[in-house]
Amino acid sequence: MEVVIVPDAKAGGELIAEAIAALVRRKPEALLGVATGSTPLPVYEALAGTVRGGGVDVSRARICQLDEYVGLPAGHPESYRSVVLREVVEPLGLGEDAFMGPDGTAADVQAACEAYDRALGEAGGVDLQLLGIGTDGHIGFNEPCSSLASRTRIKTLTQQTREDNARFFDSLEEVPHHVITQGIGTILEARHLVLLATGEGKADAVAQSVEGPVSALVPASALQLHPHATVVVDEAAASKLKLADYFRATYAAKPEWQGL
Ligand code: F6R
Repeated sequence: MEVVIVPDAKAGGELIAEAIAALVRRKPEALLGVATGSTPLPVYEALAGTVRGGGVDVSRARICQLDEYVGLPAGHPESYRSVVLREVVEPLGLGEDAFMGPDGTAADVQAACEAYDRALGEAGGVDLQLLGIGTDGHIGFNEPCSSLASRTRIKTLTQQTREDNARFFDSLEEVPHHVITQGIGTILEARHLVLLATGEGKADAVAQSVEGPVSALVPASALQLHPHATVVVDEAAASKLKLADYFRATYAAKPEWQGL
């Protein structure tokens, strides 16, 4: 895994946006896996800026969702479908036809999970999956003790994650208990995993994921098993990494043409 320490969230966003733009220049129909939450917003902002400035043509790119709440009514502003359409798909000038995600309103949720997992493969697989990380080390909504081989399925959120996400709702009670998430095994099938973590609140989870043992207790540690995983962290999120200086030196010595 490559660890890149950036000064702040904006720099992280710009770096990852450029990696996505470079991918789309190489492969215009790339399938881009996106995360929701606060962390990836600087990526989407920077990428939309590059698109508006004519730096990349994303008109053939496709966007897919990592996870979704179960039971929020269709069109609810905090359903991840609505969030991804609002924060990624529309700013990039794409239409809904460029977007795929699991159906959190399905009567048969398990069937919806399996259908989505299959659809990702049938679409050719995810080229680049952007990830955030929970304070408890989750990726997607694979909470601690998720199987490292798991596929897209329904999960129950921990109280910690519901409290972390309550800021998007009027009250904690409104945060759904259940979600659909790509499994860790599903996520690991993406060709390139890019995890962005910013802020001191993520420092413990980052240190455990990058420098700790691979463990279902820390789902993001599964990135250590992936042949092309990049972890981009700001100084605050990097503050508990023992190897921070080594990571800085390695990235500083990297030839520019290698990209992320
Ligand atoms: C969201 C997701 C989650 C978030 C994580 C961090 O699609 O998959 O894993 O990335 O909960 O959320 P923020 O970025 O809001 O701290």
